[in-house]
Amino acid sequence: MLVDMHCHIIYGVDDGAQTEEDMHRMLDVAHENEVRHIIATSHIEPGHKRFPAETYISHLQKANDYCRERGYGIDVHVGSEIMYTDVTPRLLHEGNVPTLDRTWTVLVEFLPDVKFKELCEAARDLGNEGMQVVFAHIERYQTLRASVREVRELKEDFGVMMQMNCGTVLHKLGFMGERWKRKVLEDELIDMVASDAHNTTSRCCNVLKCHQTLTEMFDRAYADRLCGGCQAELFGLEA
Ligand SMILES: [Fe+2]
Repeated sequence: MLVDMHCHIIYGVDDGAQTEEDMHRMLDVAHENEVRHIIATSHIEPGHKRFPAETYISHLQKANDYCRERGYGIDVHVGSEIMYTDVTPRLLHEGNVPTLDRTWTVLVEFLPDVKFKELCEAARDLGNEGMQVVFAHIERYQTLRASVREVRELKEDFGVMMQMNCGTVLHKLGFMGERWKRKVLEDELIDMVASDAHNTTSRCCNVLKCHQTLTEMFDRAYADRLCGGCQAELFGLEA
């Protein structure tokens, strides 16, 4: 079962789908990718930009309606990708930020030049609020790209789960990048992959191709876990 737990499919709320038509095309592509569950992780910047929660929920309903109309076996769930700021733990505590599928799990992103110390502090502060933390597209953070040990420490010391984008699995990185990618995957430091799709052109849903590539690189069981098994367990998703 394939799950896309990071994508910007809800139209009119961030830099993902802009129109209802865009959203429909993205759902068509998710269906072609045999995706069973989508968590609609629109960007949220707590304390910086107001998130149009009502619009988000009504467009999410439209996404599910479209899937039913077309006979797609896709469930679209509530979520968000939270840009970490100082006020994030407090706003989460107050219940003002949609978590992943309304669980205690949150998808958090940072600026690429974030320091390792800041990643540790964020993990600690969110952990103190009782959150299971998933770091979004960890390949983007320079400090983690420079050190596999730091990835391991965040997992071991703070229980952070790590998400990699499918595009990173699929595309060749430079020599050092490829070495890093192989190592974090081989050492099972990555918990899940997701498309981070924003459209149907340059940043498209590519979960199925990613699953095939991971099967070739490793084995079917590991590909299954990264592309859906871990997510299904975390969110209690039905097959
Ligand atoms: Fe994203």
